Amino acid sequence: MTTSHPTGDVLYAEDMTATATSAPETLHNQTFIDLENEVAAHNYNPLPVVVNKAEGIWVYDVEGNKYLDALSGYSALNFGHRHPALVDAAKDQLDRLTLTSRAFHNDALGPFCRDLAALVGKEAILPMNTGAEAVETALKIARKWGYTVKGVTPGRAKIIVMAGNFHGRTTTIVSFSDDPEAHDHYGPYTPGFETVPYADLAAIEAAIDDDTVAVLVEPIQGEQGVQIPKEGFLPELRALCTDRNVLMIADEIQSGLGRTGTTLACGYEGVEADMYTLGKALGGGIIPVSAVAANRNIMDVITPGTHGSTFGGNPLAAAVGHAVVKLLATGEHQAHAAELEPVFREQLEGLMGKGLVGVRVRGLWAGVDIDPEVMTGKAACKALMKKGVLAKDTHGSTIRLAPPLTITKDELLMITDAVAAVVSEAIASN
Ligand SMILES: Cc1ncc(COP(=O)(O)O)c(C=O)c1O
Repeated sequence: MTTSHPTGDVLYAEDMTATATSAPETLHNQTFIDLENEVAAHNYNPLPVVVNKAEGIWVYDVEGNKYLDALSGYSALNFGHRHPALVDAAKDQLDRLTLTSRAFHNDALGPFCRDLAALVGKEAILPMNTGAEAVETALKIARKWGYTVKGVTPGRAKIIVMAGNFHGRTTTIVSFSDDPEAHDHYGPYTPGFETVPYADLAAIEAAIDDDTVAVLVEPIQGEQGVQIPKEGFLPELRALCTDRNVLMIADEIQSGLGRTGTTLACGYEGVEADMYTLGKALGGGIIPVSAVAANRNIMDVITPGTHGSTFGGNPLAAAVGHAVVKLLATGEHQAHAAELEPVFREQLEGLMGKGLVGVRVRGLWAGVDIDPEVMTGKAACKALMKKGVLAKDTHGSTIRLAPPLTITKDELLMITDAVAAVVSEAIASN
């Protein structure tokens, strides 16, 4: 393929890729960064690394440098890059059938939905593609349940959301985001949402009225820097929602599917939400796959023609999602994440007062607050990159660490050792 761009230069995409494998020394990260800056929208501010191959926990840039992926595509790569079972499932499906639309049945969707429903303890699955679509779907189901089952006055359904939330980028979802970058200048905004402080049970209780159909909660707020609610909040919220006949929707798109040491983050405290939104890792790092899981009494408010998606539930996505479910069904990855949690915590907490001012760990997921006097989160991520570890900053001085669940203890220590070295070097140079 040949691409012309505004300067009049002609770039040969395949040539670049071919050169990447045949003569890495002739390629520079900056060449690709410059091209991207010129021709792609500037809606991200990535680290200056251009990845062109990956395996397991490791990624390689076009200059041949090797990095440990400590972000895992924001948990979309929970099983590492190109997990053999997932790649095999995708290849097998690619050779047979990729897309039917939902105008026809396909033989991959039923088995996927059956096993995913069993994995998360629900009766039915509504498959979509991106996380935001799953959240939108859950909001629609909750509103429709409110009108047709609970008996809320038409047009008045209210959904309670939490401050600091991140549920995606659609216009409805950003309507109730309190992050100015995500929210501002995208109005007019969708009404029907009330925001309360995160994990504040009294505030939720006070906000519930006769029009309330649901409470939407991230069991752990990932984008907010892995904020973990105090123990007891989720069970109390569950009891409150049951008591007031309000649906509890748990957005497990980032927290779910093994990341926290249990299949779902809600499971840590034995809580069962009414609806789960799932995404990211469900696609195995191969294809976008998301879903809403609920029991029939809720899911069945959706009837033919009332909701859908051209790609949702396509055979390729279903085959990969099914392979992901099979990996999780053994419990092995969850157990591994739970087993490494104390090591992860101990290593990071050991840096408290030595460059770190906050550490939150659940499973193989950590939010690390760097002392702003020492360095910014972005500077820390750039320094980590130079040490061969890729991570992502959020909210100024926090970095999120979420390595693939396939990581070994020694490899995990490479991450924490790199964090230790980065902050101690920054302190020494200040
Ligand atoms: C909790 C949560 N919900 C929803 C989303 C949106 O997912 P997507 O980017 O696939 O639309 C994200 C993405 O980071 C998320 O973390």
